[in-house]
Amino acid sequence: MEKTLTLRALSGKNILLIVGGGIAAYKSLELARRLRESGAKVQAILTAGGREFVTPLSLATLSGAPVREELFDASAESDSTGMSHIELARFGDLVIVAPASANLIARMASGAADDLATTTLLASDAPLLLAPAMNPNMWSHPATRRNLARLLGDGIELVGPNEGDTACGDVGIGRMAEVDEILRAAASTAAPAHKPLAGRRALVNAGPTFEAIDSLRYIANRSSGRQGHAIASALAQAGADTLLVRGPCEQPAPKGVDTLNVESAAQMFDACMQALPVDVAVMTAAVGDWRMREPFDGKIRKRGNNAPVTLELVENADILAELSKRKEDRPGLVVGFAAESGDAQEVLAHARAKRERKGCDWIVANSIDVMGNENTRLRLITSNNDGFEEFAGDKRLVARRLVERISERFAKAS
Ligand code: CTP
Repeated sequence: MEKTLTLRALSGKNILLIVGGGIAAYKSLELARRLRESGAKVQAILTAGGREFVTPLSLATLSGAPVREELFDASAESDSTGMSHIELARFGDLVIVAPASANLIARMASGAADDLATTTLLASDAPLLLAPAMNPNMWSHPATRRNLARLLGDGIELVGPNEGDTACGDVGIGRMAEVDEILRAAASTAAPAHKPLAGRRALVNAGPTFEAIDSLRYIANRSSGRQGHAIASALAQAGADTLLVRGPCEQPAPKGVDTLNVESAAQMFDACMQALPVDVAVMTAAVGDWRMREPFDGKIRKRGNNAPVTLELVENADILAELSKRKEDRPGLVVGFAAESGDAQEVLAHARAKRERKGCDWIVANSIDVMGNENTRLRLITSNNDGFEEFAGDKRLVARRLVERISERFAKAS
């Protein structure tokens, strides 16, 4: 089933496969073969590092086309049968870098254009999928973290690396993702040929809120905002004009999305109401339930007498419930999230009750255990009956599945 879906999504796509240096390059030979088997046209670029691990001949044989290696390749740049580096950049509906070495990642992050791979990457505006592979220490090094954060901010997609043995004998995170995983991620990253939500407006909120206690301290929660950012990005990719209202979080602003930063629940409430009318609202934010009745101006001093301190809190307005009960400008589809504790049955039961109580159309149940993680398991409830759909995996892939469901719902409605 999964395989059929993958095959269909890649069929007819032009894929630029950049093979960097690393022992994992041998898996890229199989990747090239499987991409072609899926109906994609593959053009490979082999970096100088990659050439140390696989031969141009094997890559050419499996990708079905001559491999490009040099930036200054007179015949390819002038010959009508070869592609110049600019044509290479335009060729890809999707660019896959596998393996993406620490060095290649660093050069990409700095915008270098010192060989064919980096020059083509800089000239390309196609969706980009990176499958990193490196020693676990290199992966966790602050320099690599920094470089990746930059690239993620530019809107690249990542698959892997996975945990396990690496070629150098160290065990940890650094193994390149398996070919099947890369294929699935590629299918989901390749820009959809049509934009099912073109002409629609979407509102997403995400992240925690900060409720001031005094001028220095605040009440917050552990939400990373990751899921909401992924959903905003997937909605924009599906063609929706998307506004993301987010509380303080460290996620890079998603590409193609209008992003508005707020702090408190009250500010988030106002920003969401001002965004109306929208066709779809997806409320993923972990909005603070309470705020101080009167935040203290200045710093509350401790008394030093061990006596209990009381903070007087009042409830915040409920953004989701308010959007759901709007009259003239109610979004066509209001999707709530329900962060719940307990076992699967309890999580579902609480989410169903929340959907009824708040009056939203759909609710997505998730366990509070996944907050802040990269992977998740979401259960989508769309009606009063007992059914639900489950999406599990990387938060970005899960976001796309949810957006596919949203698109289907609008396709049916129109
Ligand atoms: N929500 C909201 N405004 C609030 C509180 C929550 O819009 N003031 C939204 C969240 O964005 C989410 C949904 O309501 O879409 C459920 O949030 P959750 O924190 O799970 O529920 P609560 O309303 O806080 O209820 P409880 O604390 O009882 O679980």
